[in-house]
Amino acid sequence: MRMYDIIMNKRNGKELTDEEIRFFIEGYTKGEIPDYQVSSLMMAIYFRKMTARETLTLTLAMADSGEKLDLSAIYGIKVDKHSTGGVGDKTSLALTPIVASLGVPVAKMSGRGLGHTGGTIDKLESFDGFSTAISNDTFINNVNTIGIAIMGQTADLAPADKKLYALRDVTATVDNMSLIASSIMSKKLAAGADSIVLDVKTGSGAFMKTEEDSFALAREMVEIGRNAGRKMSAVISDMDQPLGNAVGNAIEVIEAIDTLKGKGPADFTELVYTLGAQMLINGGVAPDVDTANKMIKETISSGKALDKLAEFVKAQGGNPEQVYNTDLLKLADNCIEVKSPEAGYVEHIDCDEIGICSLILGGGRETKESEIDLSVGIMLKKKVGDCVEKGETIALIYANDLKKADVAMERFIKAYHFSGNEVTVPALIKGII
Ligand code: URA
Repeated sequence: MRMYDIIMNKRNGKELTDEEIRFFIEGYTKGEIPDYQVSSLMMAIYFRKMTARETLTLTLAMADSGEKLDLSAIYGIKVDKHSTGGVGDKTSLALTPIVASLGVPVAKMSGRGLGHTGGTIDKLESFDGFSTAISNDTFINNVNTIGIAIMGQTADLAPADKKLYALRDVTATVDNMSLIASSIMSKKLAAGADSIVLDVKTGSGAFMKTEEDSFALAREMVEIGRNAGRKMSAVISDMDQPLGNAVGNAIEVIEAIDTLKGKGPADFTELVYTLGAQMLINGGVAPDVDTANKMIKETISSGKALDKLAEFVKAQGGNPEQVYNTDLLKLADNCIEVKSPEAGYVEHIDCDEIGICSLILGGGRETKESEIDLSVGIMLKKKVGDCVEKGETIALIYANDLKKADVAMERFIKAYHFSGNEVTVPALIKGII
């Protein structure tokens, strides 16, 4: 088999065979097929697209390209959760202790991520001493004893995707539905859970800007997962403004803890309940959404979910006292008020811009090597639909560097758009598949 013929077949609109797809993934992972041929194939796929069968084969080939986690030593139905990402997305921090406290084992691999804020692992490192560098044995043992463990993504998980994603990133071939779906799902399948609940974001702060594209991506990933024998659900949720009020790292941890105390922002709480219900149903501990919602309410009001977070933080070397007393979590030295330049109703917030403000403050990584300042961030005081007076505080900026705070403040103000008329707040949950 020759790579040249595979490129030619796709260029001419032919459906690739399973053998052709596996040949190029294996050859590329081993370094036997050069970048220039694979980038040519990616561009042909971009224009000619892939069928559902091709996409499934591509996903499975990438999942098979490296280590696959064996979670069979963990009792119960393992349910993983994945978000396509967005600004202020701290969902895993609140969701995982909730479902673990209700008997669904959480065995999660998370990433650090490039972006506006750190990934789940960075955020968890806001707890003094917390580490996700734990052995496979400790990981499995912690899940079996306390119901929850989170470890860093190993370098060898779906290595074909790692190479391919880096190549797509520099060849303008990221935004193809089949390539995105196979990239995300290959990592999820290799991470070994029995069920996967997807949170597919839609809007100005999301990868997919339109609901149509977000639903299509969700359907494609659900289809792949089901064909690979996993129980799947997908929630399509709004990312046209930041989720909750906190954007940063430690500041998001504090908001997640407040939510576990029943005092979280309404939109974030709604998302936690919606995803949590899917996880409890797929994990076999709740028969329907109403029962699942009651269970979540009870585990929050009784303090069991908060205790589970403390137990989890302690088991991975962190300080559990910070769970019960969030004043012990470090926020930046300077807290600066952002005042509204005009009166009106908040009509729109350029979601990505708020993320960039967090990045400017030092809360995210621009390159893999960047160090994150976990203590900086933003607390929104006004969101879409809120009425604002001129000069009223619309946000607080937590900064260690006042020059960076000035730059962030200027961008922040430009990201807010006002209307003289009342504004309808968009629904958070757009649909469930
Ligand atoms: N996230 C991924 O992991 N892969 C993509 O292709 C896009 C987003």
